[in-house]
Amino acid sequence: MSLESKIQDRSAVIAVVGLGYVGLPLAVRCAGVGLRTLGIDIQQARVDRVNAGISDIGDVPSEIMAPLVKAGTLTAHTSFEVIKQADAVVICVPTPLSKTRDPDNSYIIKATEAVMKFMKPGQLFVLESTTYPGFTREVMVPMLEQASGLKAGTEFHVAFSPERIDPGNEKYGVRNTTKIVGGITPACSSAVHALYSSFIDNVRMVSSPDCAEMVKLLENTFRAVNIGLVNEVALMCSKLGLNVFEVIDAAATKPFGFMPFYPGPGLGGHCIPIDPLYLSWKLRTMNYQARFIELADAINTAMPAHVVQRCQDALNDQRKAMKGSKILVLGVAYKRDIDDYRESPALTVLDLLEAKGAHVEYFDPHVPSYREEGHTRNSIDNLSKLESYDLAVITTDHRVFDYADICKRAPLVVDTRNATKLITGDRSHIFTL
Ligand SMILES: NC(=O)c1ccc[n+]([C@@H]2O[C@H](COP(=O)([O-])OP(=O)(O)OC[C@H]3O[C@@H](n4cnc5c(N)ncnc54)[C@H](O)[C@@H]3O)[C@@H](O)[C@H]2O)c1
Repeated sequence: MSLESKIQDRSAVIAVVGLGYVGLPLAVRCAGVGLRTLGIDIQQARVDRVNAGISDIGDVPSEIMAPLVKAGTLTAHTSFEVIKQADAVVICVPTPLSKTRDPDNSYIIKATEAVMKFMKPGQLFVLESTTYPGFTREVMVPMLEQASGLKAGTEFHVAFSPERIDPGNEKYGVRNTTKIVGGITPACSSAVHALYSSFIDNVRMVSSPDCAEMVKLLENTFRAVNIGLVNEVALMCSKLGLNVFEVIDAAATKPFGFMPFYPGPGLGGHCIPIDPLYLSWKLRTMNYQARFIELADAINTAMPAHVVQRCQDALNDQRKAMKGSKILVLGVAYKRDIDDYRESPALTVLDLLEAKGAHVEYFDPHVPSYREEGHTRNSIDNLSKLESYDLAVITTDHRVFDYADICKRAPLVVDTRNATKLITGDRSHIFTL
């Protein structure tokens, strides 16, 4: 029976490798349409929680996941042996940067090595982890072919399909975000198209996995470069004595030819600060310098230092030194209303403030504690002692913060997100970017 027919009659079994921000929503969506789904993760605790019907991922409510687990449609495993039962295997493991800021594909390699021990003819393998153009074809396909002695494209299928999830987005999720798929042969493309069409509204086929890999990198490079541009505009406005947010909001009234991007304390998360560097790395191997990417990266990574400068300006305004000042960082998640602090610029701001001798604490109801380079830091419990800080710096514009109250009680506020835009009256103690 072909994969397409198995998907149609819901007898296909899908394995999802990596149950994080990308893999768990996918596995739950897959199981939600009646496909038996086997989640695999190397973290025993994560697997146990899934099997107990408890979701760690904000976009996956436990109330949605638990019934699927109870019905046996979704099960989680640490052993890769279950791959033997699967018709399709989707890999969603991390792709970070190495210490030298080069692509670190080791998680994909390890997951592929584990999967290939149990692969069988006719299976479809889909890579969703962001990587550089050519990776699926040049690295993953040979690994699978060598391990199995089978021919990709005829005896088993391989495709790349970038994950586009936007954590915390209430409007767009797995079902209604168009999925891009690219197989290494037309047969692979049909198989991957059939898989995703069974639980995603729109699936767009491209001609190759390389093209699908590049689509993802274009999307995230587009964001990184535009944010880099607007961050530089913020630096220029700061020199010109202009409020950059007022400038952008006015420009955004143009109904065509302008799309607003907003400046902030720098890029965060697992995608925008990292993915473009996969592309520039690949091009460097081809003796080509990706200039826009490198410039945007330089500007974006310098933003936390600019925030610290604004804190220094604010303290200076009240004849205070940074050294010895008590500073509260408001929000360490990399964006509003989520608990993910990976690559968050707020962490860099915090470290830089401390390096300048400030006494720094943070408050983030979404991130009660975080671990960085072996060191754990805990959020303060509430803002009851806000008046006792010399300065509060808003690094994440969570909706739970009461900005009017913060501006009333904090002696100085540095607002890197324009979160205080609705505060009228005396704003002399509020500093923007
Ligand atoms: N988070 C996002 O917003 C987002 C959006 C689009 C694309 N992506 C891409 O998706 C990929 C996954 O990102 P994520 O945010 O879900 O990461 P994550 O860290 O939240 O989850 C990855 C999971 O994979 C597991 N894992 C690691 N190695 C494994 C292995 N060898 N076998 C099985 N499980 C393994 C980890 O334990 C973890 O649970 C990355 O390439 C990322 O760039 C992420």
